[in-house]
Amino acid sequence: MLNILHVVGARPNFMKVAPVLAALDSRLMCSQRLVHTGQHYDANMSDVFFQQLGLPQPDVSLGVGSGSHAVQTAQIMIRFEEVVEEQRPDLVLVYGDVNSTVAAALVCAKLLIPVGHVEAGLRSFDRTMPEEINRLMTDQIADLLFTPSPDGDANLLREGIASDAIHHVGNVMIDTLVRLLPQAQSPRIDALAARYALVTLHRPSNVDGEAMLQRLMATLQEVSRELQVIFPIHPRTRARLQSFGLTVADDDRFLLLDPLGYLEFLALQRQATLVITDSGGVQEESTYLRVPCLTVRENTERPITIDVGTNVLVGQDMERLRAEIDHILAGTFKTGMIPQRWDGKAGERIADVIKMWQQ
Ligand code: UD1
Ligand code: UDP
Repeated sequence: MLNILHVVGARPNFMKVAPVLAALDSRLMCSQRLVHTGQHYDANMSDVFFQQLGLPQPDVSLGVGSGSHAVQTAQIMIRFEEVVEEQRPDLVLVYGDVNSTVAAALVCAKLLIPVGHVEAGLRSFDRTMPEEINRLMTDQIADLLFTPSPDGDANLLREGIASDAIHHVGNVMIDTLVRLLPQAQSPRIDALAARYALVTLHRPSNVDGEAMLQRLMATLQEVSRELQVIFPIHPRTRARLQSFGLTVADDDRFLLLDPLGYLEFLALQRQATLVITDSGGVQEESTYLRVPCLTVRENTERPITIDVGTNVLVGQDMERLRAEIDHILAGTFKTGMIPQRWDGKAGERIADVIKMWQQ
């Protein structure tokens, strides 16, 4: 019987592992164990997703917590190596592009344990992003590469990955969305204005520099005069607002919240007039939901959300952000389509590939 370990650690990993666990359970005779690195640890960044997504409690918690890139990555490697040595899994599955992803993949590559990378092949071509380094490294050492979109396959082929290792399975984050959309609800929704913007921001390029974060907050405050703004604040961003001493008037036009649970965030996203974000997952979910998305970044590793979906890059240009909001409010924004294989079945395709691979 195949012995599979899944490694997760940060918020977006939880939405990605859930459908793969479920599909493997129903399609394959295998033993599955879940390892939580502890990269994210606040209840509203971790526990809430285990409850709402119906994830099993982790079999192993590495408890690494926060730290510099080197410290966090190294701590995960040291602690995860022991787990792998003890359990000798047949396959380790890693998710997305966070430090937990590359750390676990590297441990396995050195111990000659096969690795599958779920959400392989995405590239922003911007190596100042820590996630781009994580993606490049993980894909080079993974044995099975599961891509969400054809651009992922093309990137991997260009980087010399063998075509028979690449599997265009679709988007696992959308699997979770499709499953849970009927349950998505927010107790807040009735009290909100008919039109509102939902905001998430956490990229170091937007929030780690005082000048940019100040500009963003000032722009959002201005926007809130014409369009209600709802902003669940990521802990990195909250910490920066505090350390820079940036105080923001929090009133019913500009709602500053703690990070939300998945079901509430999804409900708010579905009803939003638009989203303003730098999140990878939110670019994808808004495309699926056909909600206009303004991405505050110069590039994206998810170009399909622009070419096919509802996403537009506004860079760090606040004038452009305002102009695109006007466009959306005037009803002249693109409507977008749903990319192929973003259909709720990516986890099943992954399970089928693993079934073939083990034979
Ligand atoms: C990480 C990922 C990023 C992903 C994001 C999803 C890396 C390099 N970055 O960024 O790709 O988009 O998660 O949300 O892996 N903190 C808390 N409580 C928590 C977690 C974090 O207070 O539960 C605070 C700490 O001050 C910490 C900071 O947030 O130093 C950053 O956390 P970290 O995991 O290093 O990076 P993220 O910005 O969350
Ligand atoms: N999300 C959530 N609550 C929030 C903000 C985001 O549940 O307050 C969800 C969102 O729906 C998506 C995922 O978190 O499923 C995206 O994670 P994040 O933005 O932290 O990471 P990224 O995708 O940028 O790596």
